[in-house]
Amino acid sequence: MIHDNELLMYEIDRIAGVAGYLWEKGWAERNGGNISVNLTGVVTPHDLAMKPVRAGVALQETAAGLQGCVFYVTGTGKRMRDVAKDPFSNGALIRISANGASYDIVAEKPVAPTSELSSHLLMHSYLLASGRLSAKVVLHTHPADLIGLTHCKPYMDSERLTRLLWSMIPECRIVVPKGVGVVPYEIPGSIELAHATIGQLSRHDVVFWEKHGVLAVGEDVVECFDTIDTLSKAAQIFFSARAAGCEPEGMTGRQLDDLAEAFGL
Ligand code: 13P
Ligand code: ZN
Repeated sequence: MIHDNELLMYEIDRIAGVAGYLWEKGWAERNGGNISVNLTGVVTPHDLAMKPVRAGVALQETAAGLQGCVFYVTGTGKRMRDVAKDPFSNGALIRISANGASYDIVAEKPVAPTSELSSHLLMHSYLLASGRLSAKVVLHTHPADLIGLTHCKPYMDSERLTRLLWSMIPECRIVVPKGVGVVPYEIPGSIELAHATIGQLSRHDVVFWEKHGVLAVGEDVVECFDTIDTLSKAAQIFFSARAAGCEPEGMTGRQLDDLAEAFGL
């Protein structure tokens, strides 16, 4: 029984916890957002000995470098508030086949993975191939304040958007040291969106998708949430200053550089 694997259940609880935060934050309307976590080292051969609940589901693209890897993925059309309550009825553990062309759902119910599974897997492949072995999480969500900024053409520029968000509160410079990438609008779940996102992941851990949402990669699902939460706070400060009738001054370049020096960024 996978439920006897304490380490696995600990990881699943953390994912469920974050799914609950996404809902509470208002970032997960209906089935908005999805999460995948590479749990390969956590799942034991004993866990995998049981018969798959669904076998040999073909992948849109071969999952290069992920042969035999095991992921927890949220289900397509599933609500984050339900993932929080029951992660195994609203997501699944999948194992990529030995040739990378298909996957088995190994636990616990035949819940179809997110429609963005191919994109998630391409990102996991990229992270592994680029040596970021500890980056096990891909988290996508829909925070209205961050999406709002992508509707403003001047902020569809990585440097400008990064500078704006960093300058709203010191923590943002510290928590998101690589800044954010931006990707022009593409159809949700498309391979084009995945490739454009990967293009940004060499320089950033967070990517904004124009008029759609954000995606964060990282070692830990809670940290991915915290990163997006900090960006969301920065955006809210920007909007509150504007709502108060002034153009926010933002921290100066000097203040940001001093922070980088003080925190060794
Ligand atoms: P899924 O329900 O298929 O995961 O889609 C949610 C989403 O946010 C698509 O961008
Ligand atoms: Zn989305």
